[in-house]
Amino acid sequence: MDRIVLTGGNKLHGTVRVSGAKNAALPILASAILGGGECLLGNVPGVVDVVTMGKLLGILGASVKTEEGRVAISVDRIHSTEAPYDLVRTMRASVLVLGPLVARWGEAIVSLPGGCAIGTRPVNLHLAGLSKLGAEVAIEHGYIRAKAKRLRGARIALELPTVTGTENLMMAACLAEGTTVIENAAKEPEIGDLAAFLVKRGAKISGAGTDLITVEGVRALHGADHEVIPDRIEAGTYLAAGAITGGEVNVEHCRPAHLEAVIAKLRETGATVTEGKDSIRLKASGRPRAVDAKTFVYPGFPTDMQAQMMALMCVAEGTSVITETVFEGRFTHVPELQRMGADIKVDGNQAVVKGTENITGAPVMASDLRASAGLILAGLAAEGITEVSRVYHLDRGYEKIEQKLGGLGATIKRVKGGAAPAARATA
Ligand code: EPZ
Repeated sequence: MDRIVLTGGNKLHGTVRVSGAKNAALPILASAILGGGECLLGNVPGVVDVVTMGKLLGILGASVKTEEGRVAISVDRIHSTEAPYDLVRTMRASVLVLGPLVARWGEAIVSLPGGCAIGTRPVNLHLAGLSKLGAEVAIEHGYIRAKAKRLRGARIALELPTVTGTENLMMAACLAEGTTVIENAAKEPEIGDLAAFLVKRGAKISGAGTDLITVEGVRALHGADHEVIPDRIEAGTYLAAGAITGGEVNVEHCRPAHLEAVIAKLRETGATVTEGKDSIRLKASGRPRAVDAKTFVYPGFPTDMQAQMMALMCVAEGTSVITETVFEGRFTHVPELQRMGADIKVDGNQAVVKGTENITGAPVMASDLRASAGLILAGLAAEGITEVSRVYHLDRGYEKIEQKLGGLGATIKRVKGGAAPAARATA
């Protein structure tokens, strides 16, 4: 397994270009199942989760051709409606094929994703919504089995604004008979991007990006071309890299409007943040000030930036309280940051972080995608060498991260292969 080795202390300077949004590309790829004709997608990030989704769609019968950042996909026929466990367990977003399969092919057999490092991650709201649309849904031997002759439009009031739940149900509703209204829908920009792509294919959707989405079902969707929106979490991660190293970083090919809560929080720490049309420049002003941060659904401060913010607060002047309200277990980065000398005390869904000037490099272990990003950021600021193992977590959502950080002046390299470090002793 690869490791990333970095030596802290360099102030990052320069420009970095953001890739396409993983969390937009995944539902957009899954939505290819909904109709025939070829879809040409651009600005698709070269990350492992996108490769995994391509493999899954291939298993189902799609034709998927990928070259540098572009994907040509068509699903004119299907030869399986089953998303197998050994693939789904590597990527929970596989559940996004559920709605499209039932809507267009009348059946779906999708392994339950199971929990992961950040929480139990149930999909009960996806299933309840599909039932509302007239699907027969059962769970047998760890698999979701859903079928329907033709889905019927319905009013779905989501108990929680689930992102992929909103996406699954919006996709399914595209081919349902009649009108579907999704209330308390998630408002993340990736949902708006998925809807924009579906509308290009002939779907009738309004309200995506708000908490009330209306879908008029149609008989069929055709192919279309689409450029995936930039990845707002990747952009936020590089801004935080500039802040934690006391440098000046220009993040380009991004959408500042998607990062308002992150930009506001970084400004609170004392950084100067300037928004361009499709770029954001951050200039740190010495050591960051400690600020509190609380994660919320969009447009609040994103949970996917919580670990990165915590890393920044580890070196801040003062004490901050980081509150995680979206996932119940998203503090797996804490013990690893503590090994680097960070002063963090966790109490339930809150972490009290006492900033210190001297965190030190150490061998640390990544546990999930965004925790890994937090450890990389801490390593950029730590005195000495940090070695992050299990970076396959990082490769799921960050394209060429060591090249991009190296281009900003970080001393960072990837060490290929090598045995995985033994899991931490439990007793
Ligand atoms: C999406 O996950 C993202 N993944 C996550 O990004 C992101 O952290 C999350 O939204 C929150 O913004 C993709 O878009 C592929 P949720 P998702 O359903 O849809 C509970 C990353 O790092 N819930 O909005 O799985 C759930 O337990 C990943 O890129 C139910 O109870 O998140 C959680 O507490 C990590 N029942 C809350 O809702 C359900 O049926 C939000 O989950 C569904 C969700």
